Amino acid sequence: MNKKLTYSELEKRIQELEEAEKALQKNLTLYNGLIETTNTGFVILDQEGKVIDANQEYVRLSGHKNLSQIYGRSVVEWTADYEKEKNAEAVDKCFREGQIRNLNIDYINAQGKITPIEINATVIKVDEVTKILTLCRDITERRQAEEALRDSEGRFKTIFDNANDGIILVDNETKKFDDCNNAICQMLGYSLEEIKNLGVADIHPKEDLPYVIEQFEKQARREIAVAKDIPVKRKDGSVFYSDINSTPITLAGKTYLLGLFRDVTEHRKAEEQKLKMQKLEAIGNLAAGIAHNFNNVLAGILGNISCIKEQYSDDKELYEIIEDVEKASLRGKNLASQLVTFASGGAPIKKIVSIEKLIKDSANFALSSSNVKYEFNIADNLGLVNIDEGQISKVIANLVENANQAMPDGGVINIQAENILFKNREYSDLQEGRYIKIAVKDHGVGIPKDKLSKIFDPFFSTKEGRTGIGLSTAYSIIKRHNGQIDVESEPGKGAIFNIYLPVS
Ligand SMILES: Nc1ncnc2c1ncn2[C@@H]1O[C@H](COP(=O)(O)OP(=O)(O)OP(=O)(O)O)[C@@H](O)[C@H]1O
Ligand SMILES: [Mg+2]
Repeated sequence: MNKKLTYSELEKRIQELEEAEKALQKNLTLYNGLIETTNTGFVILDQEGKVIDANQEYVRLSGHKNLSQIYGRSVVEWTADYEKEKNAEAVDKCFREGQIRNLNIDYINAQGKITPIEINATVIKVDEVTKILTLCRDITERRQAEEALRDSEGRFKTIFDNANDGIILVDNETKKFDDCNNAICQMLGYSLEEIKNLGVADIHPKEDLPYVIEQFEKQARREIAVAKDIPVKRKDGSVFYSDINSTPITLAGKTYLLGLFRDVTEHRKAEEQKLKMQKLEAIGNLAAGIAHNFNNVLAGILGNISCIKEQYSDDKELYEIIEDVEKASLRGKNLASQLVTFASGGAPIKKIVSIEKLIKDSANFALSSSNVKYEFNIADNLGLVNIDEGQISKVIANLVENANQAMPDGGVINIQAENILFKNREYSDLQEGRYIKIAVKDHGVGIPKDKLSKIFDPFFSTKEGRTGIGLSTAYSIIKRHNGQIDVESEPGKGAIFNIYLPVS
């Protein structure tokens, strides 16, 4: 039953309604304000995905200025071509499932500018009409940050992969390898996949493992940074020496040791070589001192011998004994003079000369009574060198003589000379610059590995009745000319002795 309202009741009702409308209007203004200031695009779509309403931010995202420009149009129209299908599918899916979460789509404006958008949408029903309520966020900055991150990751990866030092990431707890770069694969002879199945225990000789692990633990505790001269075992079982510089790092809550491997085998060899040279010099000085005094003693003896010989020339028996004594003393004198050459040899008396003729003459002289063949291969434009001709020809003669003796069944000796440029040779004593390289190559017995380090030692000889002073003399002479002498040889494959003399 409808109760008729009195006029005053009606008036009160109208007033209530007016106040409710005012409140609604106020809320609407508030919400509109809110929607416009959230920095989020807001759009309502009808069932066909066409725009019914949108805020200003959405209008901007769609690449337009006013709502009227997009009203009634499909969102696919300002979707980048390559995203159109994905967007249409997403709208379908939204109707089917009631929502879309964090969909990334690129919008494009009339000038072709791309704006990446993240979309969240919900289907709502108002008065039996289905609509999609969509929130869109501009993710340009996030995309840029992601790209920058990818870019810097890529850059680090390039550095990682192309570094000369071997880099390896080891799980601190299990001591298994997690990742590594190309350089370490090459150093060890394993592929990346193989290394990822290995750990610390697999790449060091068994007997050295306790020491290696101790160093590893110290590095993990940051007590030391570099573990020096660590023996590292390759896949083929051969061993090289490496300095390992390691730092503990944390990745995704896990602790790793990041190890940088630097192969120091060559460096070690060079150090050993240096020590050897120092030893040689010390022996040389000692030998020179002895030889000098020895010579004085012998000079005295020989002087007296000639007096005795004169006085007792009639006594045949005694004369013969004295002659033997004299011969022995002369051999001693000869040896002493050899020693002096090896040790100090007197400072070289240098002259600037072309060395070609000297090489040929010395070799011809040394091989005059030999039946081996020899070939010269000497560059036309050899630089001039500042040398003591007598000393250098002695060196060449010594090398040629050794080559000859190494080929008892005959063969060919190659004598080469060329100009070379030394640049930045890390493990050589030589300064940077231009040099003449003289190589004496034979095809003889060769030198076993364990003897290679001894052949420049004074008095080292494998030949019967020889002094073993030829190469040590050659070494000290070349050293005094600021040059270098070295050898390449394998048993049965002959030997090459190389001399480097600075071009003046
Ligand atoms: N071309 C070569 N091929 C093989 N072995 C060599 C060669 N040159 C040197 N050697 C080895 O090095 C050693 C030392 O050589 P070095 O010239 O100093 O002494 P030596 O020839 O034995 O005696 P010396 O030169 O005093 O007569 C030799 O005994 C030999 O074992
Ligand atoms: Mg010799």
